[in-house]
Amino acid sequence: MSDDDVQLEARLEEQEVFEPPASFVEQANVSDPGIYEEFEENWPECWEQAAELLDWEADYDQVLDDSNPPFYEWFTDGSLNASANCLDRHLDERGDEAAIEWVGEPVEEDNITYTYEDLHREVNEFAAALRAEGVSENDVVTMYMPMIPQLPIAMLACARIGAPHSVVFAGFSADALATRMNAADSEYLVTCDGYYRRGDPLDHLSKANEGLAGVDHDVETVAVAERLRDGDGFDHDYADNQVAFDDLVADHEGETVDPVSRDAEDMLFLMYTSGTTGEPKGVKHTTGGYLSYAAWTSQAVLDVKPEDTYFCSADIGWITGHSYIVYGPLALGTTTMMYEGTPDYPDKDRLWEIIEEYEATQLYTAPTAIRAFMKWGEEYPDSHDLSSLRLLGTVGEPINPRAWKWYYKHIGDESCPVVDTWWQTETGGMMLTTLPGVGDMKPGSAGPPLPGISADIVDVSGSPVEAGQAGYLVVNKPWPGMLRTLYNNDERFIDEYWREYSDIDSDDPADWVYFPEDGAKIDQDGYITVLGRVDDVLNVSGHRLGTMEIESAIVGVEGVAEAAVVGGKHEIKGEAVYAYVITEDGYEETDELRGEIIEGVEDAIGPIARPEQVIFTPELPKTRSGKIMRRLLEDIANGEELGDTSTLRNPDVVSDIQSKVGSD
Ligand code: WT7
Repeated sequence: MSDDDVQLEARLEEQEVFEPPASFVEQANVSDPGIYEEFEENWPECWEQAAELLDWEADYDQVLDDSNPPFYEWFTDGSLNASANCLDRHLDERGDEAAIEWVGEPVEEDNITYTYEDLHREVNEFAAALRAEGVSENDVVTMYMPMIPQLPIAMLACARIGAPHSVVFAGFSADALATRMNAADSEYLVTCDGYYRRGDPLDHLSKANEGLAGVDHDVETVAVAERLRDGDGFDHDYADNQVAFDDLVADHEGETVDPVSRDAEDMLFLMYTSGTTGEPKGVKHTTGGYLSYAAWTSQAVLDVKPEDTYFCSADIGWITGHSYIVYGPLALGTTTMMYEGTPDYPDKDRLWEIIEEYEATQLYTAPTAIRAFMKWGEEYPDSHDLSSLRLLGTVGEPINPRAWKWYYKHIGDESCPVVDTWWQTETGGMMLTTLPGVGDMKPGSAGPPLPGISADIVDVSGSPVEAGQAGYLVVNKPWPGMLRTLYNNDERFIDEYWREYSDIDSDDPADWVYFPEDGAKIDQDGYITVLGRVDDVLNVSGHRLGTMEIESAIVGVEGVAEAAVVGGKHEIKGEAVYAYVITEDGYEETDELRGEIIEGVEDAIGPIARPEQVIFTPELPKTRSGKIMRRLLEDIANGEELGDTSTLRNPDVVSDIQSKVGSD
């Protein structure tokens, strides 16, 4: 580095506030700071601005019906179709423009451009096929697929015929697929034969089949997208209810399906996510509110314009991909990128190569990825022309200021705003972030609530805490993208998100407060720094994992008597899984058993939940009342000084466990 570089680096390291770059502000979709006041004064009608981004078949009567909190309804009696909004209405002006740029792996010859015409055609054909297979309005169709084009095609085909989809992340296990299909009573599955990871073919259908064996009802049809070349060495026999995706589509070549008119409150999709208990929660999102909110936030925060080539590196199997690869960007008629591979194959400059080649205008990624890029070194981005980029975003977990500044400098060349967006599967879209053309940025802090969003940091009793103090994040008013309930479980919906801070006997919406289960603090300018989950949920590489789910997988392994799972700090992943395990009498604490435990977790959940360390211990530290002291286990995992352990029932166990962590 030259002296100039060193000086620049030092200045950046110290700087705590960054103004939006003037070149960005000039062209930003939103650049008037008055928007906050305008939304506040005009709430909830302000949300008409979001609804106006869509085409409605029937106008709505009321923006918000809050007569029965927390079962809020948005844009009541309006009707629309999500696939028509993402496809048909763009055909006249943008039919020949790219809707999806799909970048496949292995590299080069595999890339596909889907124009809006192409995507419209493929979605219609698959919608016709689904209908012919018996899928009716409101039937839940499950998708268990990696980042291949048939995934968004199937999602939009479902939306077209009014069948809600439930996408299960391809990295999840067979068991996870079965649990979700059972919970949603889903009789249809779209999956694939396999896919490629770092150049190697992976067998996916065998995993899907294993999952199907655990489904407790009849499955009508399994559509299998054939991503592998000639099966690539895997021997897949299709069962009677299984049929190749391409064969289904070929039978309906050229057919069109009229988009079904859906009520604004009709379910667009379900997404299962982890909570405190072992059972995943089926988050229900709607057609009108969700789509309006995904489109509005894409426009206001990601600054998406039709002529952009927008790149979000998330997986469509998570909510980020639903809202900000598929629905938001396509509703706005832009070009959205879809990358099948990993950022380090064939080399660690893969993303930068793609951005250069496609002249991508935005990059939306996760802090865990940024920390990996940082570790790999700036020579990788430096060897590419990234000047097409106009805006950078992050999501999924807190970003440390060093990683933020690295991203700002080495990827954004100090000329792109960085939006640190806090939100959740349940919120449908972004909630806390700066508006890139309006607000100053503070590395490490997401920023204020978006216009129209009302959030606070409160103490246990619900009173706002002072600036600088840590407390709990709450949301005081409903918003269009919010979940409507947990599928088939209104009671759990109230218990999980509302009971804590609401007067649940009241029907006054002012008494209802949404609790996202995150800790946070707020500064004197109203900027919110999210500190992390306050429930038993871990955030590993931006993925949400329930400690209970992992514990029950471990306890299911032969030879395990008891287990406690906590999150320990991890340089790249943010958090990593630490499993403390007590063996059953007669079982040895062997590496073999360790291996079986790891395998047990991978089988029950998936490789993302793989424990970083399995620590055998004769006892778990417990309070006198018998509760496991998780905080202590976390401190041990992090190698931190331990506070007072004298209140433990079994204080002696602590030094024993400490000596084992990291020693394997
Ligand atoms: C949890 C939600 C939103 C899509 C990806 C994750 C954490 C999310 C941030 C951020 C700090 C964040 C929270 C939240 N989180 N974004 N910008 N700063 N924490 O969705 O799987 O539903 O997880 O992710 O803890 O509650 P999810």
